[in-house]
Formats: sequence, C-alpha cells, structure tokens
Amino acid sequence: MKKFLYIQTLGCAMNVRDSEHIIAELKNQNYELTNDINIADLILINTCSVREKPVHKLFSEIGAFDKVRKAGSKIGVCGCTASHLGAEIFRRAPFVDFVLGARNVSKISQAVQTPKFISTDINYDESEFAFGEFRGSPYKSYINIMIGCDKKCSYCIVPQTRGDELSIPAKIILDEARRSAARGAKEIFLLGQNVNNYGKRFSNAHEKIDFSDLLVRLSEIEGIERIRFTSPHPLHMDDKFLEVFSSNSKICKSMHMPLQSGSTKVLRDMRRGYTKEWFLDRALKLRDLCPDVSISTDIIVAYPTESEADFADTIDVLKQVKFEQVFSFKFSPRPHTPAQNLALIDDKVASARLSYLQGLHNEILDEIMSAQVGRGHEVYFEELRENNQVAGRSFSNFLVCVNGSEELLGRTLNVKIEKAARMALYGKVTL
Ligand code: SAH
Ligand code: SF4
Ligand code: F3S
Repeated sequence: MKKFLYIQTLGCAMNVRDSEHIIAELKNQNYELTNDINIADLILINTCSVREKPVHKLFSEIGAFDKVRKAGSKIGVCGCTASHLGAEIFRRAPFVDFVLGARNVSKISQAVQTPKFISTDINYDESEFAFGEFRGSPYKSYINIMIGCDKKCSYCIVPQTRGDELSIPAKIILDEARRSAARGAKEIFLLGQNVNNYGKRFSNAHEKIDFSDLLVRLSEIEGIERIRFTSPHPLHMDDKFLEVFSSNSKICKSMHMPLQSGSTKVLRDMRRGYTKEWFLDRALKLRDLCPDVSISTDIIVAYPTESEADFADTIDVLKQVKFEQVFSFKFSPRPHTPAQNLALIDDKVASARLSYLQGLHNEILDEIMSAQVGRGHEVYFEELRENNQVAGRSFSNFLVCVNGSEELLGRTLNVKIEKAARMALYGKVTL
C-alpha cells in the first residue's frame, strides 16, 4: 500500500543530498513524497548542528509536527543533530520513533521498521554504498565525492557528526555523473567538506588521484556543461588546482573560499592551517588567473580570542578581496569542540562587529552588482518564479531573472543585464 513521506531538510547541501538518498531508499518501500504534513505516514527532519540555533529549532519543529500529525504516523530525526545528541532526543521528545545520524543514511529502511531504532556511528562507512536514484531537480545533480572531515577546526562540530574523511571511489562518481548527463541534467554539483583534499584516503585500494584530476575527468563527460563544487579549503588551493579551475571551460567560475578570520593569530587558534597572507595570495592569484570569477566566503565573527585588531584584519581581507558573497555568523560554542569552553566575547560587541562587517559587504556588493548592468551573462534557467519570472545562475553564479515561461527551463541562454538589486540581476534574453 502507498504511504506518504514528509521530509524537512535543514543545514547544508550535504544534507540536501542525504535527504535525496533517504527519499530514494524509501521510494523502494512504497513511500511517496508529500508537502502535506497532515496526511504523512512518516515525518522526517534532517537536522543541522553547526550552530546552536538550528538545534533549538529541531525541538520546536518536532513539537509542532507531533501536534498536527495523523494517528499511527511516525517521526524520525536524521542528520547531524541526530549524530551529536543521539538518545537524548528520545529523552527530550519521547514521541520520536527513531534517530538516524548523518553517515547512517543507508539504514533508513531498517530505522522505519524497528521501534526506537537508533544509529549514530560516525565511523560507519557509506563511501561505497549504492543508493537508489532520486533527484530533487531535473536540471542539476548533487554528487557526493567524500564523506566526513579530517580537519578538526577548533570551533566546528562537523567532524563529530560526520566522522573522519573518506573519499568516494572515482568510478562511482564518474558513473553517477554519466547517469546525470543521460537524464539531461547539464550541471553537476560536487559535495564534500574539503573537496580539494579529494583522494587522500579511500576505504579500499584506489589509484592515485587528486581533486584537479577528478575535475578534468568529469569535464570529459559529454552532456555535462557546468561543474560546481563546495566546499574547497583555502589550505589546499595549490597552483595546479587554481590553474585547472581557471582554464577548464566547464568549471563554473565561482569559488567558495571560507576565510573564517582574516587574522593569522585567530586562524592559528582556529587550527585552519593557513595565514592571512596565504589566503590573500590565493584569492588575488585566482582573480588574476580568472578575471570573471566570483568568490564567496564564510566568516566567523567574535571567535573568543578575536581582538579589535584581529577583527580589523578580517575587514582588511574583505576590502582587498571584495567577495561577491559573504556568509557571516557570530561564533556559537558547540559541544565536543576545543573552543567550547573559551570565554565568550560580550554579545553586544559581537553583534556590533557582525553588523559592521555585513554593512561593509553590502556596500561592496552594491558596487559589484551595479557594475553588471549592460553586461551579458550566460544563464542556465532552473526555476519559475512569481510574476512570470524565470530564474537561473550565470556561469559565475549570479542569480539572474528574466520575464518568461517554462520553455526557458533547462536552457542556457545569453542575458543582457538591465537592472541590478543586491541579491539578483534582471535582464532580457538576447540571441
Ligand atoms: N567545511 C566547510 C564548512 C562547513 S560548516 C569549510 O571548512 O568551509 C559551514 C560554516 O559554518 C563554516 O564555514 C563556518 O563559517 C560556520 N561555522 C562552523 N562552526 C561554527 C560555529 N561554532 N560558530 C559559528 N559558525 C560556525
Ligand atoms: Fe568544520 Fe573545519 Fe571540517 Fe569545515 S574543514 S567541516 S569548518 S572542521
Ligand atoms: Fe551540514 Fe549542518 Fe551537518 S552544515 S555537515 S548539516 S552540521
């Protein structure tokens, strides 16, 4: 008999892909997706632990699920918070039926069938598991190239929720990319916590290969027109990688360079492994090699050891690199991390630093966006929006909207930009 699955996904792109894997496995058990929680036989939440806020959100969300669900339905908690809180979730929310940690996704069918199932083994090896096929988008495919993270940055809980780093064999990745091209998706989006450290460790014997080699091999697949990836680590941005990135015509010219802090001292405290100078050297070399690149970053403001002078270093990097996109967060102490017990910076100071940084970024962004007016961008259209608008991404990752209808979807077209806002560009398709 057909059953309905409702799934809510929080967190990063790795969780989005994990949710696709969960859906694929459950489709084999006769589940069908629904957006209507009231009719769902199974309600899942795929959680994030990276900051404290999303963890609070988990308990308020599942409390709300419990109120509206139909009799006999099940609630499962998956993902990174499932890994880090484990059985505590049953204690705080006794109505939860199962807890399935990140990196244990392949056990979803067993979890659904077993009362009070719990599995949170962060060393469980899913790097060669053959998941079923489900894709949220017909236009692009997320592809995992590694699981876990070996870096152990002082503030970060991810190594405790996703375990040690393991690369997925190249053959599995290439086959997945070929299947993606065969279904007509022109874009692949490679995922991992440290993608440019690819090839360091596999579960079984494997030929020697690094991320640059993998990119080249993927770019040889017919039908793939765009390759994106996240997250690369600034430490591993060697010349070979920057050169392949810049010269390969299928690799989209947008690079994520998670800075975290511009101060060499704070970077050392964070155990990031690079200095302010190294970061600037890599970012400016990239701008040099690839003038059309857009660079995004993540920044943590008010790390416990950050002085005003350290913060000024972060601002200095912002002014020099002029990032196209900045994701900035106040430091949030996380359990099981070395930075957990450090004395916090006063919250007023932290908020003031965050809003100063965001204000500066907005000024830089306004300049970047208005400079696009009059320019042409190649846009791959993926999404229908309100008011007869269709949206897509430029090769350099700007969000671009035009007037049009579904016949634009899945096509790559030239757009002349006529208007710029902070978050999007607007224009007309040209021939
Ligand atoms: N592997 C990626 C990061 C994944 S976590 C990388 O190294 O870039 C995504 C972002 O969350 C991080 O880049 C960081 O900026 C932020 N983050 C992680 N832990 C945090 C914490 N304890 N407090 C605030 N922000 C944090
Ligand atoms: Fe976390 Fe650092 Fe690993 Fe990124 S590289 S997931 S910030 S430990
Ligand atoms: Fe991603 Fe959040 Fe886990 S950012 S790796 S879902 S802690």
